[in-house]
Amino acid sequence: MSNTHLSSEALPKHIAVIMDGNGRWAEAQGKPRVFGHKNGVAAVRKTISSAARLGIEAVTLFAFSSENWQRPEEEVGVLMELFLTVLSTEVKKLHKNNLRLRVIGDKSRFSERLQTKIAQAEEKTSANSGMVVNIAANYGGKWDIAQAMKTIAIEVEQGKLSSDSISEDLITSHLSMSDIPAVDLLIRTGGECRISNFMLWQLAYAELYFTPIYWPEFGEDSLIEAVTWFVNRERRFGCTGNQIKALMENQ
Ligand code: IPE
Ligand code: IPE
Ligand code: MG
Repeated sequence: MSNTHLSSEALPKHIAVIMDGNGRWAEAQGKPRVFGHKNGVAAVRKTISSAARLGIEAVTLFAFSSENWQRPEEEVGVLMELFLTVLSTEVKKLHKNNLRLRVIGDKSRFSERLQTKIAQAEEKTSANSGMVVNIAANYGGKWDIAQAMKTIAIEVEQGKLSSDSISEDLITSHLSMSDIPAVDLLIRTGGECRISNFMLWQLAYAELYFTPIYWPEFGEDSLIEAVTWFVNRERRFGCTGNQIKALMENQ
C-alpha cells in the first residue's frame, strides 16, 4: 500500500479512444447492433466526465471513420441520428462544465442539418477553458494528412510558401488538432489491436492500450485502469489505481 502523492504531471495530457465493440456487445445479448451504439453514449459521457475530473487537457473520441460509410445504410442512418440527438442533449452539459467541443474530420459529407448543429456546438463552447473534447467523425488519419498536404500545396502554388520550408513542424501545424498536445495514450476497446486509420501522424509516440471490453461497458474504472497502466509504463514505477483516483476532483 502506498499513500505517496502522485503528481498530475505523470498523467497523459491527451487521450485518444477508438470506441469499438458496440455491435458485438449488442449481438452477444441477441439485440440489433444499433442497440450497442445507443448504449455506447453512456460510456462517452462517463469517459468525458472522468477525464475532466482527472484534469486531462484533451480527449479525442473516434465516433465514425471514413470507412464506416461502407456499413449498411440503416446502421449509418441510426449513427447519424444518434449523433444529432447527442449533440442536442449533451452540449449544454459540456458548456456548463466549461468543456470545449470540437468535431474533427471531413464534415462536408454530413447533412446540412448536422453540419449546422456541429457549428453551433463548437461556437457555443469555443471560449471555454476546460478540457477539449474532440469528436472524430468521418475522420481518417490518411484523410487528415492528405488535407494538410493539399493546403500546403495551395500555399506553395500561391507563392506564400517555398517547398524548402516544408518540415515536420509545418505539416503538424496543418493537421487537425495542431493546437493541442500530441496523443500520449491511445485506448482501443473491443479487443482488436489495430489503428483502423485513426490518427496516424499524431500517434507517432503514443502508448497503445488495448482492452477486450466492449465500448458500452467502458466506464470510470476502465479509464483509471488505462491511465494507471500508462503512468506505470512511462515512469516505470508502481503506482496504483487509488493514487490515480486521488487526483480526481470531487471524488
Ligand atoms: C464501434 O463499434 C462503433 C462504430 C464504429 C461507430 P462497432 O460498430 O465497430 O462494433 P463491433 O466492432 O462490430 O462490435
Ligand atoms: C474503428 O472501428 C472506428 C470507430 C471506432 C469509429 P471499426 O470497427 O470501424 O474498425 P475495424 O473495421 O474493426 O477496423
Ligand atoms: Mg468495430
